[in-house]
Amino acid sequence: MEINPTAKTLAEQGVTDAAGVVRLFDDVKRQFGAELEAKQSVSQWEELRNAWIGRKSGALTRITENWLKPSPPELKRAVGQALNELKAHVEAALEERRAAIQAAADQAALAREREDLSLSGVVRPLGSRHPLRQTFEEIERIFLSLGYSVVAGPEMETPYYNFEALNIPEHHPARDNMDTFYMAGPFAEGAQGKPGASPLLLRTHTSPMQVRTMEKQQPPVRIIVRGKVYRRDNPDATHGFIFHQIEGLAVDTDITFCDFKGTVEYFVREFLGPKVKTRLRPSYFPFTEPSVEVDATCVFCGGKGCNVCKQSGWIELFGAGMVDPAVYGFVNYDPKKYSGFAFGLGVERLTQLKYNINDLQLYFQNDVRFLRQFA
Ligand code: DAH
Repeated sequence: MEINPTAKTLAEQGVTDAAGVVRLFDDVKRQFGAELEAKQSVSQWEELRNAWIGRKSGALTRITENWLKPSPPELKRAVGQALNELKAHVEAALEERRAAIQAAADQAALAREREDLSLSGVVRPLGSRHPLRQTFEEIERIFLSLGYSVVAGPEMETPYYNFEALNIPEHHPARDNMDTFYMAGPFAEGAQGKPGASPLLLRTHTSPMQVRTMEKQQPPVRIIVRGKVYRRDNPDATHGFIFHQIEGLAVDTDITFCDFKGTVEYFVREFLGPKVKTRLRPSYFPFTEPSVEVDATCVFCGGKGCNVCKQSGWIELFGAGMVDPAVYGFVNYDPKKYSGFAFGLGVERLTQLKYNINDLQLYFQNDVRFLRQFA
């Protein structure tokens, strides 16, 4: 076949019958097939498309112009038919190749952009909540469900809030139980000029927030106070110079000892389990009257008597009582109109009882072998 048979008419190529026409078209079709075979990229494909079906100078246009139009009448039909077939073939083959090239390009792009999800990522070791935090959250959950709100207050406190306003005057023996860390200075603004003014101290309990809360708001008051407290103690299995408390305070127009007892019993059952019984034992705190220690049946022996409860069947849980009217005097509440109760929970102690932990220091040593047991 000549280099470019489409440039010449049939007569010029010596084709005079239908068989010659078929042969000629077969040649052209083979040539197209060979060229198509060689084209792999989108741009090569576009070139090929223009060369074959481009309107102005494509091979099919040339065939129309050079073969079909000038062909003798007896061959027109054969040429027209063969041209139509060739056209359909070329278009279909071009479209098929275009789809194949596109698919291959998509595949390549996918392969290039693929994220290997089987690669292991950065492993971040997950910690767990500290047992003390778990106790805080559990206690807060219980009191929130009773309509209490949670407040926090300053760890650096004035003697006024830590002692005086809680009915613990300067030389009261109750101050002896609470070996106190005093700051070298400065004097608290609020303490200056107040009776017994002295430098700031680290609060020895969360009770000062009772006074701070009542100063700010009128009854009804239902709060729990969460936080750290400090005392000058030598660290051992049952002592530390820092520990955690949750204080509770409820004041309203007709709160009775029954409300107090009911709340305490509900809390203990929720926290330690439904089988645990409580008992109230007379005690003394300057800011409550009457004051009690709340005991629970021993969680370890169920009340039968064991080493932990020293064979008594009971363990001491926390101190509490009805708010002493003297405290209302410091916050301008009318003691004839209002009454309430308060309690002070040791978070370390309650955690120890719940999980049978025998050494207070474990909480603060950050030993993962200990902490992991609470994950
Ligand atoms: N503040 C007391 C302490 O740290 C605990 C306490 C006892 C708090 C009785 C109270 C309470 O609110 O009513 O030892």
